[in-house]
Amino acid sequence: MQINGNTILITGGTSGIGLAFAEEFMKHGNTVIITGRRQDRLDAIQARIPGIVVKNSDIADAAQREELVNWVYSNYPSTNVLINNAGVQLAMDLSQPVDPARVYAEINTNLVGPIHLGSLFAPHLAGLQNPVIINVTSGLAWIPAAFMPVYCATKAAMHSFTLSQRWQLRNTNIQVIEIAPPSVDTELGHDRREDKTQSHGGIPIAEFIKEAMAALINGELEAPIGDAKNLRAKGETIFEAFNSRF
Ligand SMILES: NC(=O)c1ccc[n+]([C@@H]2O[C@H](COP(=O)([O-])OP(=O)(O)OC[C@H]3O[C@@H](n4cnc5c(N)ncnc54)[C@H](OP(=O)(O)O)[C@@H]3O)[C@@H](O)[C@H]2O)c1
Repeated sequence: MQINGNTILITGGTSGIGLAFAEEFMKHGNTVIITGRRQDRLDAIQARIPGIVVKNSDIADAAQREELVNWVYSNYPSTNVLINNAGVQLAMDLSQPVDPARVYAEINTNLVGPIHLGSLFAPHLAGLQNPVIINVTSGLAWIPAAFMPVYCATKAAMHSFTLSQRWQLRNTNIQVIEIAPPSVDTELGHDRREDKTQSHGGIPIAEFIKEAMAALINGELEAPIGDAKNLRAKGETIFEAFNSRF
């Protein structure tokens, strides 16, 4: 994709990968809008990064998704890139009854949100220069980490969905790109850690962003990053060995 001169909406820009993409795209001369639910984070980011646009919006809520798209095209009609990045990662013990509210919350955030938002954006994007939808999936789309079963299922579904979305939009000028991160050192999954400031490990975010930007510049439509390439290649053949690590 062209990496300068865009107006880019990034869902889930209050931390981690979304925030790092926002800062990187701003360095390349793009206008960047980020969303998230934590207003204190949005305020702090706006104070720290001059020019960044922030919008409080919950991707898991259908009415808020529609309001977001209306707001974006009323205020930033040139928005030509959507990055579906917001996500949550929940651990779930399947030997006990699960709480359906947690299941719905995870599926709404990671799957229903990007599906609906992409469809709301598509008619606007089709009339613009260099329109792009980027779906942030995961190396876990190809091999689940069994302790977070619904998370991995949403990412596998988003991989499949991205193929269909790209196919359906093939006669438009909209590029549909999948970025599948490996384990990256962010706050993801902090809900399940006693010390909320503790990371789950993974590669440094700068290393991830460098490789992801290179893939975008190279025009890769499906971009597993770092070790996600290995997960993509080996898939479920390494299921037991992979899950024995956790
Ligand atoms: N880090 C990894 O190891 C890794 C690996 C593979 C894929 N990924 C994917 O990368 C994406 C970003 O994750 P991350 O690692 O950067 O995690 P993160 O630091 O926890 O960031 C998640 C972002 O999503 C936002 N978010 C969560 N629920 C939301 C909702 N309902 N509405 C709007 N925003 C919401 C959060 O903002 P608020 O809390 O302020 O709403 C936050 O900005 C996710 O899709 C994740 O699945 C991450």
